[in-house]
Amino acid sequence: MQVIVVENAQAVGEYVADTIIRRIEKGVLKVLGVATGSSPVPVYEALERRGVPSPQTLKAFALDEYVGLPKAHPESYHSVIERDVTRRLGLDPANVRVPEGDSDDIEHAGARYEQAIREAGGVDLQILGIGATGHIGFNEPTSSLSSRTRIKTLTPQTRKDNARFFDSPDEVPQHCLTQGLGTIMDAREVVLVAHGASKADAVAAAIEGPVSSMCPGSVLQFHENASFVVDEAAAAKLTLREYYDFTVQNRPEWQR
Ligand code: GLP
Repeated sequence: MQVIVVENAQAVGEYVADTIIRRIEKGVLKVLGVATGSSPVPVYEALERRGVPSPQTLKAFALDEYVGLPKAHPESYHSVIERDVTRRLGLDPANVRVPEGDSDDIEHAGARYEQAIREAGGVDLQILGIGATGHIGFNEPTSSLSSRTRIKTLTPQTRKDNARFFDSPDEVPQHCLTQGLGTIMDAREVVLVAHGASKADAVAAAIEGPVSSMCPGSVLQFHENASFVVDEAAAAKLTLREYYDFTVQNRPEWQR
């Protein structure tokens, strides 16, 4: 696990955009895992500024979607990914997939999504945010650490956190279709981004706490190629901060 602490949200975006561009140029990033929420937005903004190499051939898979919101709803993750990712990065919409939360046979939508990821060759680099409950994707606390794409019930805390995007808190859907923790763990590389003091507890629990389904992000301690790129405020509760900084300062070029 690598922990990279930078000054602010914009620096998080620049750092991760640089990683993504390097991987695409090296030819090892053909399928990008994308996340919604405010955390990854600086990454997408930096990619838009710098320009994604060969954007028309890059494939993207989103982590999750609300169940029951029509795709055209402005807060469906189909719409959010369209706005924040597909347009900014200049991707071909035909290469961007989001779980089908409005499917008529929703019980099979998870398996279909897993199949689509497999057919694309798997996710090369997955971008993740983290929720205040420690969730990644929409894998709320007590999600099975080996779960696959499936329907989950959102916690009251997550519905409250996401109410800011809707006209009233009651409009936030109760269910979602999300990649499982096992699905996320299959990505060849995972980069979790976080900024702001409200993420400090979740970041510290995921990196330094015990591996536990009570903090789903902690499963990344089992990933062989995971990094956390966080700003000063989100890093505030890490106890081994000096060691992380020393590691980054002395990192060999080939490890970047
Ligand atoms: C939602 C998304 C997660 C995201 C989380 C945090 O629950 N499903 O993928 O990480 O929100 O959002 P934000 O980055 O806005 O704090």
